[in-house]
Amino acid sequence: MSKLVIEGGKPLCGTIPVHGSKNAVLPILAASVLCTKGVTVIQNCPDLKDVKSTIKILRYLGAKVKKDGHTITVDASGKLRHRVPKRMMQKLRSSIIFMGAITARNQKAKISAPGGCKLGARPIDLHKDALRALGCDITEKHGYIYVCGKNRKSVELSLRFPSVGATENMLLASCLTPGVTKIKNAACEPEIIDLADFLNTMGAKIIGAGTPEITVTGVNSLHGTEYAVMPDRIAAITYLCCAAATGGSICLTNTVPEHLETALSYLAQCGCQVEAEKDVIRLSAPKRLSAVPEIETSPYPGFPTDAQSLFLALLSTADGTSTIHERIFENRFKTADELSRMGADIEIKKDIATVCGKDHLTGAHVCACDLRGGAAMVIAALSAEGTTEIDNVCYIDRGYEALEQNLATLGASIKRM
Ligand code: UD1
Repeated sequence: MSKLVIEGGKPLCGTIPVHGSKNAVLPILAASVLCTKGVTVIQNCPDLKDVKSTIKILRYLGAKVKKDGHTITVDASGKLRHRVPKRMMQKLRSSIIFMGAITARNQKAKISAPGGCKLGARPIDLHKDALRALGCDITEKHGYIYVCGKNRKSVELSLRFPSVGATENMLLASCLTPGVTKIKNAACEPEIIDLADFLNTMGAKIIGAGTPEITVTGVNSLHGTEYAVMPDRIAAITYLCCAAATGGSICLTNTVPEHLETALSYLAQCGCQVEAEKDVIRLSAPKRLSAVPEIETSPYPGFPTDAQSLFLALLSTADGTSTIHERIFENRFKTADELSRMGADIEIKKDIATVCGKDHLTGAHVCACDLRGGAAMVIAALSAEGTTEIDNVCYIDRGYEALEQNLATLGASIKRM
């Protein structure tokens, strides 16, 4: 298994583009199975392990998939299977989105529980409730979930929590369901807007995506389209944190600054100079960052839980005491232990982390606990004195394309062994 070796202490400077969004492209790829006339051409697809796993599922289902650089063409016009094997489902969390997509396409689906980062229980009750509300019959046997969607009907449903995945599943399951479906308390994340925009270019009738109330008017069929996936907002925050932690100065292109407003405001509170213009973000960091007294993760447009570990690493060397309240996932502070190995002073009490900023961190042999936790270790390693070895790089590879190359372009000393 490969590891990253990083020699810290070099301020990152320069310009890099941000790749397409992982959390947007995965549901969009799943949605491509709804296209029965023509092909879908999806551009700005990041080259990531989770994207490869999703392509494998599409091919297993019977779709013809061609990948040419960052463009993926899916021809799902032929007959498709309705089941996904457990081993494929368990490769990633987003595989659960195939539940709504396959049901809408084939009127039935057989899938298992998804995989993904271990951030707590991560149940799928909201996904199942959403499909049941749409008239699907769901049974579970021998580790598989059987969905029968023959009698789907439109519905007005208020989600108990604005779950990103459950909102996506409901969009997919309802866009070919006759009548008008209303999803209330829907997730408002930009990735939901991207999925709805993609479906609308295929002929779906979805309005209100990006607000808590989405209206879907069912259509008979969807046709081929060409669509470019939005930029990855969490990868953008990661690179900004890398620069901020090292006292650097960077420019990111291919971003949507309004998607990052909350994180950018906290970076400014840390003492960074942040400027955004069109699709470009520039950040210039002070020699030492200031602590942020209170950060709380919450659904969009709040501070993203995916950036929580990144800020844990960043604030480990800020001047003063910061607190981060994790309100989305129950077990997302595992990275604190790894940061402590590098000299960080972090105390976890239930869902609140208190970070007493140290002068500096020290290189150590550490481990990526999950995708964003792994990215957090990279941030810490770049800022630390000495050399850090990070194991379990496979987690990081799920979400970052060409991480070492990008960081090397910015002047980091980083090697994969
Ligand atoms: C998506 C993102 C993930 C991000 C998260 C929150 C993808 C592939 N992943 O994950 O990176 O951290 O949104 O922004 O897009 N919940 C339930 N029952 C359910 C579903 C969710 O209780 O059926 C709970 C979860 O345990 C969690 C909360 O709701 O506590 C948020 O989960 P959700 O918004 O569904 O996140 P994901 O779609 O899994």
